[in-house]
Amino acid sequence: MCGIVGYIGDENAYKVLIGGLHRLEYRGYDSAGVALVSPEGHLNVYKARGKVSNLENFCKDKNTDGLVGIAHTRWATHGEPSDCNAHPHFSEDGNIALVHNGTIENYKILKDALMEHGCKFHSETDTEVLVQLIEYIRINNKCSLVDAVREALRQVVGAYAIAVIEKNNPDTIIAARQSSPLVIGIGDNDFFLASDATPFVEFTDNVVYVEDGQIAVIKRGEPLKLLDLDNRESTVDVKKLQISISQLEKGGYPHFMLKEIFEQPETLRDCIRGRVVDNGRRVILNGVLDNKERFLKAKRIVLVACGTSWHASLLGKYLLQDMCKIPVTVEYASEFRYSNPVLDENDIVIAVSQSGETADTLAAIKIARSMGAFVYGISNVVGSSIPRETHSGTYIHVGPEIGVASTKAFTGQVMVLTLLAICIGHLKGLLSDHEVERLGHHILQIPDYVKRTLELNESIERLSLIYTYARNFLYLGRGYSYPVALEGALKLKEISYIHAEGYPAAEMKHGPIALIDSEMPSVIIAPKDHLYDKIVNNVQQVKARGGNIIAIVSDGDETISGIADHVLKVPDMPECLTPIITSIPLQLLSYHIAINKGKDVDMPRNLAKSVTVE
Ligand code: M6R
Repeated sequence: MCGIVGYIGDENAYKVLIGGLHRLEYRGYDSAGVALVSPEGHLNVYKARGKVSNLENFCKDKNTDGLVGIAHTRWATHGEPSDCNAHPHFSEDGNIALVHNGTIENYKILKDALMEHGCKFHSETDTEVLVQLIEYIRINNKCSLVDAVREALRQVVGAYAIAVIEKNNPDTIIAARQSSPLVIGIGDNDFFLASDATPFVEFTDNVVYVEDGQIAVIKRGEPLKLLDLDNRESTVDVKKLQISISQLEKGGYPHFMLKEIFEQPETLRDCIRGRVVDNGRRVILNGVLDNKERFLKAKRIVLVACGTSWHASLLGKYLLQDMCKIPVTVEYASEFRYSNPVLDENDIVIAVSQSGETADTLAAIKIARSMGAFVYGISNVVGSSIPRETHSGTYIHVGPEIGVASTKAFTGQVMVLTLLAICIGHLKGLLSDHEVERLGHHILQIPDYVKRTLELNESIERLSLIYTYARNFLYLGRGYSYPVALEGALKLKEISYIHAEGYPAAEMKHGPIALIDSEMPSVIIAPKDHLYDKIVNNVQQVKARGGNIIAIVSDGDETISGIADHVLKVPDMPECLTPIITSIPLQLLSYHIAINKGKDVDMPRNLAKSVTVE
């Protein structure tokens, strides 16, 4: 996590960097800081605890002139959120400043060695070690900044995207990456660098995705140079950026999260476009069709992901097992990587990640590849690390998701997993043309079903007022609705800070039923499906113990509607497609409860959008 930005050109660097930090704030907001080389040759470093707006206030009466600078927004790992732990960190002689996203695993050894040489440290961070080491090498080896950075990086174990500037060298930024994202934007007379391309979309659409192990030498007036840690130069591959500025703004909504919830009819249309064709008769996923043999011979599918993407993956299991008759397991990437996984060339590993940068998911991919498995990625961010590390894959194409709580990415992931299951099931001859057409026909209507479901917003807002101060929630579902229950509970937890548990409805009687009383609302997801009659019993069990029930049911429902305290009706559709629809009221419910509680829904405490640390 953490976001880094850099600028060198003809514009005021401070303005570009602050604008960039606002765009990257989703990556962390424990503190922010900026370092600028002023026209008089001073290295001005300003930092503030908390959000970027605090930094702006702090800088109001400061000298923010300069045409080169670097900046950082922090998600604390080593050292508490504080002014002194905020980046940029600078060398003891005050000549070099550095920003870093990642973790230096061997920082303690390096720090001890530097301290033995008399080096003093001012923060508790792992990052400060890097800048002191660069300074130490620069002075002792009497070498250039790029040589000092390269030599320092050769000694470092861990993950980093860094940018470094030097007081006496105002025409240069050195940047480098290992396991943390780094993109460089090339303008007419300027260069930008950042953790993703959002900080510079309005300035240029020419981008270079820096690869692991590369060092970028960015010099005013010179072409960009990429070197490896052995000083070998590699070709610079300039790509065209695919996002627009309007996608990064709130477009009249009070929060990104609400905008993203309401965008879902459109984002799902984008996700389906060109993939469900001939009026729903055919489902085409090139990533599968181009690797037909691998999918046909697969003996097992392993889904790896974290958080919301893990919930989407769990739905993937139900979908793939139903339609493709392949055994599927779903793994938390963070556990999978340390579980001595047993894989071979007959396995397909599917990595699901909105950001495409989640460190644990990336590590799982590396392990899977090393064991000969075919690795397929499902990501949102074009050009991010996961699509580049996988053999093949599919983008969900839902546009930038800025709210930390994932909403439109979840429905996009579920949609792609549904298409994947249909495509493989059809290839294997397990789904008939008729069945594909039946599902395809409904999938084409999903954007409209979602639009109708969003009309529940006002009722959900009213309902949220009743339960804003509940201290615990239970979310229950069966079959396809069980992962939806998990996701609903996660949404509530992360933005309203209310404890919520998602549970398979039938498991409730093995423990959680003890928690039920009039103080503990249960949200029960019960669309019309083959388990409907079973979940009716679970609804009765909650009611019999005095629990309050909010039920998500299908249009036309009567039985549960007659028992539950509050009923939200959604369009009826084939069972395997219900999760995309039933998750919408849950997103709205958590949004409104969090707003009623005065919480910052777009930037909930302690979280970050892109988790690039273990
Ligand atoms: O970018 P990824 O999908 O890999 O991120 C995984 C999780 O960090 C993410 O889904 C997280 O759980 C969200 N905050 C959930 O809303």
